[in-house]
Amino acid sequence: MSGAPLLKVSGVIKRFGGVQALNGVGLDVMPGTVHGLIGPNGAGKTTFFNTITGLVTADQGHFELKGRRYRPTEVHRVARAGIARTFQNIRLFGDMSVLDNVRVGRHVRTQVGWWQALLRTPAFNREEAAITDAAMALLDFVGLTDQAHRMARTLSYGDQRRLEIARALATEPKLLALDEPAAGMNATEKVALRALIEKIRDQGRTVLLIEHDVKLVMGLCDRITVLDQGHVIADGLPAEVQNNDAVIEAYLGSAHRAYDTPHDSPDSGALEDPEEGVDDRDDGLSDLPDASDTPSAPR
Ligand SMILES: Nc1ncnc2c1ncn2[C@@H]1O[C@H](COP(=O)(O)OP(=O)(O)O)[C@@H](O)[C@H]1O
Ligand SMILES: [Mg+2]
Repeated sequence: MSGAPLLKVSGVIKRFGGVQALNGVGLDVMPGTVHGLIGPNGAGKTTFFNTITGLVTADQGHFELKGRRYRPTEVHRVARAGIARTFQNIRLFGDMSVLDNVRVGRHVRTQVGWWQALLRTPAFNREEAAITDAAMALLDFVGLTDQAHRMARTLSYGDQRRLEIARALATEPKLLALDEPAAGMNATEKVALRALIEKIRDQGRTVLLIEHDVKLVMGLCDRITVLDQGHVIADGLPAEVQNNDAVIEAYLGSAHRAYDTPHDSPDSGALEDPEEGVDDRDDGLSDLPDASDTPSAPR
């Protein structure tokens, strides 16, 4: 594939005590593609997501977004830089409305200062109205308009996953990282999910997808990286990966184990020293284009 990658990651190492979760993992995600990240349970997929989104600090690693180096040490700054994600274990504000869950995502792009919020200035009110409109448009996009005023926790599992996607999209990400979005979905919901991810790609966004459903992954992804025990064991087109002996051995042959004990890493990683093991020559995330550089950001 030609052109420059949107996300370029190399040499990511992450150890949890005695567990070597990631051992030199890297991948290039091309813009406008759906890139699959697959592998058996415990391969390090979620940990990799956590390191690129600032939830867990990598011991080592090189991260570039749109050709600019970044240090994914703070979740909100990663969001402003253009990466959004969903979680293997759904994380919604269960007692808030569906609409408000999406509005929360939208606030990452808020322009007005806290003092304007406090004084409820016209600028603040205009922005709040715009946030509501944008959130409603996103609910329509994922097919949840009818559910807008329900409490998030009352939604079906499949709808909660779609709500998480809407909330992530509210930050206007260049890269949307989905951690097992089809887990727990029935066949009909999976078909709808596939169509939704294709729509997101058609908008020009880039999707990084962790998914166990081989049929979904092979049909949807432009390119696939396979992890096993913290190593990349294959990277290529779906057909190449599917016929790779190491992959068949490590993953496809053991797909029946895939839904055992889903594991999502706790937030505790975010409390680690952000400077630990990070190359001092790294630019901070602040060097990345900010919300103001995003053409579609609200004015
Ligand atoms: N916060 C954590 N603390 C300790 N061990 C962790 C943590 N997060 C992940 N691990 C371990 O790292 C390895 C990779 O896990 P994970 O990234 O969740 O794999 P996958 O998403 O591919 O199933 C596993 O052995 C897991 O137990
Ligand atoms: Mg996982």
